[in-house]
Amino acid sequence: MAVIAQKNPHIKVTVVDINEQRIVAWNDEDLDKLPVYEPGLADVVAEARGRNLFFSTDVDGAIKGAEMIFISVNTPTKTYGVGKGQAADLKFVELCARQIAKVAEDDKIVVEKSTLPVRTAQSIKRIFDATNGGVKFQVLSNPEFLAEGTAIDDLHNADRILIGGDIETDEGNAAIESLVKVYEGWIPSERILTTRVWSSELSKLTANAFLAQRISSINSISALCEKTGADVDEVAHAIGQDSRIGPKFLRSSVGFGGSCFQKDILNLVYLCLHFGLPEVADYWEQVVKMNDYQKYRFGKNIIDSLFNTVSGKKIAFMGWAFKKDTNDTRESAAIYVADELLQDQAEIHVYDPRVCKEQIEKDLIYLWTQQGELEEHARFRVNDLVHVHADPYDAVQHAHAIAILTEWDEFVSYDWEKIYGAMQKPAFLFDGRNILDAEKLREIGFEVKSIGKG
Ligand SMILES: NC(=O)c1ccc[n+]([C@@H]2O[C@H](COP(=O)([O-])OP(=O)(O)OC[C@H]3O[C@@H](n4cnc5c(N)ncnc54)[C@H](O)[C@@H]3O)[C@@H](O)[C@H]2O)c1
Repeated sequence: MAVIAQKNPHIKVTVVDINEQRIVAWNDEDLDKLPVYEPGLADVVAEARGRNLFFSTDVDGAIKGAEMIFISVNTPTKTYGVGKGQAADLKFVELCARQIAKVAEDDKIVVEKSTLPVRTAQSIKRIFDATNGGVKFQVLSNPEFLAEGTAIDDLHNADRILIGGDIETDEGNAAIESLVKVYEGWIPSERILTTRVWSSELSKLTANAFLAQRISSINSISALCEKTGADVDEVAHAIGQDSRIGPKFLRSSVGFGGSCFQKDILNLVYLCLHFGLPEVADYWEQVVKMNDYQKYRFGKNIIDSLFNTVSGKKIAFMGWAFKKDTNDTRESAAIYVADELLQDQAEIHVYDPRVCKEQIEKDLIYLWTQQGELEEHARFRVNDLVHVHADPYDAVQHAHAIAILTEWDEFVSYDWEKIYGAMQKPAFLFDGRNILDAEKLREIGFEVKSIGKG
């Protein structure tokens, strides 16, 4: 929304959220306090905020004043009832739709920006039509393809914008055209694709499934590389030269994280099952299973290498965010690897340049309470065994091993000789992102294990 406002100074954009704390942070004078860390975002907000970009908790007022409303609320995996563990939880979307229907006084175009299962637009439309007969609604699907960490660049130079709508009617086409105009503020028109609404909804799930599948594919090969002595980076480079395959998204790692890939694939799996396609569902579910296996394998490798136990041993985690250049930790591989090591009674010392102590503790407590542990007990375990440091050199003092969990650029330029000197010997380093020069580290004295290297 910030980029839409930046590129369309004549359009007033109001971002509303029921989370008051977040809105206060979005309005903070100090741009370092914005709730989302994303390179370039602060500049965009600084340019547009107060001009034509506003942040507010007045949801009803914003609905009344808007001609076009983007629903961008969270759509997590359901944790209860029918579809538990797979289906998207649409309760937040439904609540939004009901509120819009209740409050709207004139015709609106409602845009699904959240990632939603196929045919959600139809459900939203039914709510509108049944609740507010006097007002006409057009529902469009406009999935978001940005990646966290590169979001601003992805938005400024989008490969494509996808807009799904009711292309069979004049009203539907007029609504599509209104949204096309917003994007034409900066996107060349040949990159703005218009489709039927269901194709648009399904394209987003499919795009994420294909991207995640590439990561799981190369990660599956990394396991084989470790057994055979092949080098996964060399394999990835060799196959990436084939123009049919291409070089992107072939980096092997400890596994993908983030709020989208797993959730969207499970959503696709659920849809396939719902429509009686169990073979298709199994095919895609395997992408998530392979990712879980990769995280488990990484943790097990640490335990095996440290003489079959990490009990009482100090393991330093470099990075907690699910990828570099974001403070987002949702579904981060670090959480699951930490859980595995903590089950074996390790002591974890974390350093991440952008993730705060409270978030790291919250992530583990959330995971354990989801697994059935009492919150009090989970909190006690975190306080006892997880330590968060503001300085990476403090995190590694007397560590038995270091695990690289996020590919932050700054890790590469650390003084690794100094780090080696501060550690217990033998000093192990597990590079879950293959970002460090393993040969140089071995010369210093480290025992290095990279992903997919025999
Ligand atoms: N994060 C990404 O990179 C990304 C990329 C593409 C698509 N998406 C999709 O976008 C959607 C949102 O993702 P996110 O990462 O921004 O989630 P998020 O949880 O960070 O943000 C959702 C926000 O919606 C607010 N909210 C919930 N109900 C509301 C209501 N009724 N009225 C007003 N505000 C309400 C919440 O308070 C929260 O601040 C999801 O469907 C996700 O799949 C996310």
